[in-house]
Amino acid sequence: MAAFFFQCFLAVLLFSPQFIVSSHPHHHTPKSLHFTLFQHETVNQTIYTIVNGVKGLETNPFGTFFTFRDPIKLTADPASKLVGIAEGTSVTTSFDGMRALTVAKVTLNLERHKGSISVVGGSHTIQPAEHVVTGGTGDFMFVQGTATTSPVQLKPPAFIYKVEFHLYWPPYST
Ligand SMILES: *[C@@H]1O[C@H](CO)[C@@H](O)[C@H](O)[C@H]1NC(C)=O
Repeated sequence: MAAFFFQCFLAVLLFSPQFIVSSHPHHHTPKSLHFTLFQHETVNQTIYTIVNGVKGLETNPFGTFFTFRDPIKLTADPASKLVGIAEGTSVTTSFDGMRALTVAKVTLNLERHKGSISVVGGSHTIQPAEHVVTGGTGDFMFVQGTATTSPVQLKPPAFIYKVEFHLYWPPYST
């Protein structure tokens, strides 16, 4: 466990906000964009259980329905700059309560990129999980790619996840 948290700490150091952009020649729309942000989730403040799952199983019973509205910040520090919001729902889909199917809209107000990114996929409470980017609005219109979440801090009721976005624009988007 100590090693796990050390790795997470290292991850925070290594993945400080940094944007890697690759552009189509002569166009404003980038070809790809890679950046890392942090989702700050707090039980009973930014995420709530709406419907309880099957009783008698683990802490998050199978079929528990959550809705969240989590701040997205520049770093894992809760005092860091607020740059967006992740609004979504998830339903636990494993009997140990750790896996869930999540649908979310991540609205970002970054210095050079404003708009929303829609994601869907299997998430995990304490392990990294890759989500599919299904599209976007504003500066993120037409995006495809992945959003990988990894836990950085798990201190109930506060959960902090690193979110690595790997966004790609199809050729027709220029
Ligand atoms: C959140 O609220 C529910 C309902 O009041 C309560 O059962 C649960 O213990 C709370 N969880 C935390 C982590 O505060």
